[in-house]
Amino acid sequence: MSTLIKNGRIITAEQDYYGDIFCQDDKITTIGEKLNIHADTVIDAKDKYVIPGGVDVHTHLDMPFGGTTSCDDFESGTRAAAFGGTTSLIDFAIQAKGTRMRDALDTWWGKAEGKATIDYGFHMIVTDLPDAHMEDLNDMVREGVTSFKLFMAYPDVLMVDDVTIFKTLKHTSTTGALVCMHAENGNVIDHIVQKTLAEGKTAPIYHALSRPTTAEGEAVNRAIALSEMAGAPLYIVHLSSNDALEKVAEARDRGLPTYAETCPQYLFLSLDDMGKPGFEDAKLVFTPPLREKWHQDKLWAGLQKNTLQVVSTDHCPFCFKDQKELGIDDFTKIPNGGPGIEHRLQLLFDGGVNEERISVNRWVELCSATPAKMFGMYPRKGTIAVGSDADIVIWDPLAEHTLSASTHHMHVDYSMFEGQKIKGNAETVISQGEVIINNNEFHGSLGRGRFIRRDAYGGAWG
Ligand code: URP
Ligand code: ZN
Ligand code: ZN
Repeated sequence: MSTLIKNGRIITAEQDYYGDIFCQDDKITTIGEKLNIHADTVIDAKDKYVIPGGVDVHTHLDMPFGGTTSCDDFESGTRAAAFGGTTSLIDFAIQAKGTRMRDALDTWWGKAEGKATIDYGFHMIVTDLPDAHMEDLNDMVREGVTSFKLFMAYPDVLMVDDVTIFKTLKHTSTTGALVCMHAENGNVIDHIVQKTLAEGKTAPIYHALSRPTTAEGEAVNRAIALSEMAGAPLYIVHLSSNDALEKVAEARDRGLPTYAETCPQYLFLSLDDMGKPGFEDAKLVFTPPLREKWHQDKLWAGLQKNTLQVVSTDHCPFCFKDQKELGIDDFTKIPNGGPGIEHRLQLLFDGGVNEERISVNRWVELCSATPAKMFGMYPRKGTIAVGSDADIVIWDPLAEHTLSASTHHMHVDYSMFEGQKIKGNAETVISQGEVIINNNEFHGSLGRGRFIRRDAYGGAWG
């Protein structure tokens, strides 16, 4: 199988030039001007951008959570990702308390195998770490699961104590694995939540109002201190507020290896989008919650200044009907999470590049190159270079469309961005040298996605 992409404007995190790309099987083998090589498939990319496939390092497919299971599995979720130009993702396997990490990894391999249509890796969510099981962390790194998520929120469910966090960080400081932190002060939030319910405040908006930005800032600060004590790098996931951003900026100014991602929902939505009548707000219940609108400008500035290095989706979809409705009388029973796996490149292109907040190179860097570097996949993923995987998107910068549940490919009955008009979309998506999306049609097959055995963290990326 060979593919020749001609006449495109090739954009990576560092470069922007015109040329042709030849892919033999699943690799890019030649890049040059006016290539004259026979290929099974020839694609004319005139007037289009040719970018590395998107890398989404934060998704929750087929995940049991909040008394139900996220409603995109590895089939529908990876296909929706591909429609939006994402060709690699990292999902989260969850170690059940009292069990070994390998059990969780086997379970999540089982969920993905035979279903995924793009390449995928796993982070391991650590829920307990007795001294006798420290070896599990090495076991995961050997399997290419080179990052661990820990929760400072969700007491009695996923939250771990500071000692467990410190022990994990101390260990990763020697293996080169990366700790990803859900940073919110879970105990204080739980106290506020109980008081809120006792006052009879049960509507979805109270989910957001009971999780103050200072609870995020405090936890980010504590996580940074723990990582400094342990001498390990730290990656803050789904950063949502200026309080948290300031802590990351301070740490980076001091030269600490502190990194952070934000997500489109925090850049494009705010508390102003809540306060709708009835139970509608449940569609926007995720954690951390939406913030006051002014935080958005701070987050965009964070992306511009590289205080934030990555944009991921935290795609964790639950249908409004029957799933979000579990919490119709009590916001604490609304499964936390929102759908977005399909729209990350589109939103960041439209709101970032078209609005002149970021350059096209920065767009590629945030959505593809840095996530690949940070999580041990570069230069296999995240760039267009000889030897890299042939994961390539032909991007039409002028394609106009409107985001809507009636047209999206995610298996969820609402859109967080319903009605939002976008200019720019993936026209052709190539994964492992195979065209899997063309003109809004899916040409891939079930189970063609491969497990990505990732290297340990590179250390010098940020
Ligand atoms: O609300 C969210 N973010 N759900 C997914 C789990 C998590 O904390 O990332
Ligand atoms: Zn989280
Ligand atoms: Zn998440």
